Amino acid sequence: MDAVTEIIKQAQHAINSAQDLQALENFRVQYLGKKGEITALLKNLGTLSADERPRAGQLINDAKNLVETELQNRRTILETEQLNQELAGETIDVTLPGIQNKLGSLHPLTRSLQRLIKIFNSLGFQTIEGPEVETEYYNFTALNTPEHHPARAMHDTFYFADGRLLRSHTSPVQIHYMENHQPPFRLIAPGRVYRRDSDMTHTPMFNQIEGLLLSKNSSFADLKGLLHTVLEQFFEKELTIRMRPSYFPFTEPSAEVDVAWGDKWLEILGCGMVHPNVLQACNIDSEKYTGFAFGMGLERLVMLRYGIPDLRLLFEKVAI
Ligand code: FA5
Ligand code: MG
Repeated sequence: MDAVTEIIKQAQHAINSAQDLQALENFRVQYLGKKGEITALLKNLGTLSADERPRAGQLINDAKNLVETELQNRRTILETEQLNQELAGETIDVTLPGIQNKLGSLHPLTRSLQRLIKIFNSLGFQTIEGPEVETEYYNFTALNTPEHHPARAMHDTFYFADGRLLRSHTSPVQIHYMENHQPPFRLIAPGRVYRRDSDMTHTPMFNQIEGLLLSKNSSFADLKGLLHTVLEQFFEKELTIRMRPSYFPFTEPSAEVDVAWGDKWLEILGCGMVHPNVLQACNIDSEKYTGFAFGMGLERLVMLRYGIPDLRLLFEKVAI
């Protein structure tokens, strides 16, 4: 009996001092394993007399149950502690900033085009579009530029094998519209155009905004006034601008507009009074109607407004 009491005391002490589940398991083996101390007592029952055996057996079994219960209680405590420790280690700091969804922003070209369209619309110009793949007729011939005319060489044009081409300017949209509409009207036609060009102020693809106004009494002064108003609204500041005489087959007289750019000038658009031959090609009476047209370079305007030194940056994946 003393031996059993002593073992229970030791086992209780050991179990309650176990600091982790592994230590607890070691104690379980020490007392209840195949070669454990309580197991050994049970095995020894056979050496006792028949009188003593039942009482001793009862005593040892009670001890065994007691130790098992103590083991289970301690295991529950240690498991809870271990879980709490794991949870503490995995704590989420809800005060940390979350994953941000960065909002996109419009490309300067898109933004500027939208602003220009708004300015023109507010002045009564409607917006139309035309095809990017054109025939020579629309890109040149109807614009008073017959085959072998030297002005065709002014644009380094991309041709397809079948003779069609990527439009080199937005002026052919004028022809599409005039074929189906009689004046008066005022319109703009923004869109992509293509030329074999590449340097700081030229890219092989760029955007033009074509403008066309036809009426019974429009003048070159109206053209100048319109351009002045639009540019002032777009740039929102004073600019040094010059209008320089130029040549286009489809306008007469013709001019180009330059803006001061460092110690140089940067050309932003071509313009002029629509040539009577162009009106006649579209069955519009050139005795009755006059008008003006212009073609603005969108990228040039954006370069100037945002201080972008090289036009090609607009089409590259860099922060500007
Ligand atoms: C024309 O394309 C004429 N169609 C403009 C016009 C329309 C004149 C209607 C009269 C009446 P030009 O080739 O100059 O003209 O081009 C017009 C503008 O496009 C230029 O002033 C310039 O701002 C821009 N531009 C021309 N080539 C490029 C290029 N490779 N890259 C970027 N912008 C360009
Ligand atoms: Mg030019």
